[in-house]
Amino acid sequence: MYNTAILTISDRCFSGERKDESGPLIVKALPPDDYKIVERKILPDELDVIKGALLQISSRGDIDLILTTGGTGFSPRDVTPEATAMVIQKKTPGIDFALYTKGLKSTPYAILSRAISGIRNRTLIINLPGNPKATEENLAAIMPVLPHALNLIKDESPEDEHQFE
Ligand code: MTE
Repeated sequence: MYNTAILTISDRCFSGERKDESGPLIVKALPPDDYKIVERKILPDELDVIKGALLQISSRGDIDLILTTGGTGFSPRDVTPEATAMVIQKKTPGIDFALYTKGLKSTPYAILSRAISGIRNRTLIINLPGNPKATEENLAAIMPVLPHALNLIKDESPEDEHQFE
């Protein structure tokens, strides 16, 4: 069972101006026998808020996966990848490559996401674009390999955990 946190990042969803569709789509896409959703938040597009949430969740020690949705684009307020880059200790470029490759097969607009991913402590953090269709497509692209990736992170020797602190 993988403990999972889902962060919807959007000023408009945070203010209630828009309904969060992508968060519920992620919940639906994760098989409940394998993924336990332990935290769900809607956050504004604020660097410090996003960074703080990522740090807090990845420091708990019991969260395997954080999926963010939104805030990956080119608009001035889009800062999810920057917040993610500030907290990860290891990049996971294979995941990014898979997401962009799959995304570009369905739309040239996939280049408008700046999503990244990486590992902090024992937690894998993956940015997904906020558009519901994009969130769904991106998640589907990595789902088959995700359990193996999460198992590898869990199995690291305990000494490795502190080498970046
Ligand atoms: N990726 C896929 N696979 N499918 C899409 O429809 N939309 C793009 C892009 N990535 C899209 C996609 C668009 S239009 C934007 S603006 C960016 O994701 C960033 O979205 P965000 O700022 O809501 O995260």
